[in-house]
Amino acid sequence: MEKKVSIIEFGVAGGNGLTAVEYLASKIEQHLNGGIEFEIYGFDTGEGLPEPESKEDLPYWFEAKQYKMDVEKLKNRLTRAKLILGNVKDTSENFFKKYNPAPVGALFYDMDYHSSTRDCFKLFDESEIEKFFLPRLYLYMDDVIGQDIEMYGEFNGQLLAIKDFNQRSDGIKIHLNQNLLARNNFDAKHQIYYAHLFNHLQYSSFVGAEEKDISQQLLKLK
Ligand SMILES: C[S@@+](CC[C@H](N)C(=O)[O-])C[C@H]1O[C@@H](n2cnc3c(N)ncnc32)[C@H](O)[C@@H]1O
Repeated sequence: MEKKVSIIEFGVAGGNGLTAVEYLASKIEQHLNGGIEFEIYGFDTGEGLPEPESKEDLPYWFEAKQYKMDVEKLKNRLTRAKLILGNVKDTSENFFKKYNPAPVGALFYDMDYHSSTRDCFKLFDESEIEKFFLPRLYLYMDDVIGQDIEMYGEFNGQLLAIKDFNQRSDGIKIHLNQNLLARNNFDAKHQIYYAHLFNHLQYSSFVGAEEKDISQQLLKLK
């Protein structure tokens, strides 16, 4: 059985998120002792934010060139993640063909704009979903909560991109997690989403028997 899973971050900038993913992936691999292996990919222009496309990109809060990456410095910092440089509207097009990644299981969205998040979702246009995705995915959406002045909502930014995606997509739906909401000790509980790939051939395979075992093992990691 394939035990490799890919993790993707959209929006890397200085690499704090991506290096944290590298660290945690290695820790989980060691802990599960060969039970799982991760591939890690990070998408970014390498030049900071592009020009905003519209008001839905929140130009009152974000502007072009913000979060510019020092590419060489970051490459030296990374231990295993692959950087995919260019505008995601282009790099998402041939990602699967070019990199032939292990099935994607988790995606971190931190490209700030409505338009960039919309273009990240182009990965879901892939037709070979069994080859390139797990049937259900964990998503982290960075820009759905913020300071008062950011004023995110369902008519702008990432939340609008999610709403539009769900409207146009029949087979895949993205929604806020419900189970973590009940936890008091988890800061990111409003930013963890799930994607259900309802047309995935493994979508209905029963995983209940494995679930208890995996939760027990992950609890020991804390
Ligand atoms: C807030 S920063 C990411 C911060 C990062 N996740 C961290 O942990 O520090 C947003 C990044 O998204 C990238 N970005 C935004 N729109 C993009 C696009 N259309 N294509 C590629 N990268 C984009 C910018 O270059 C910028 O580096």
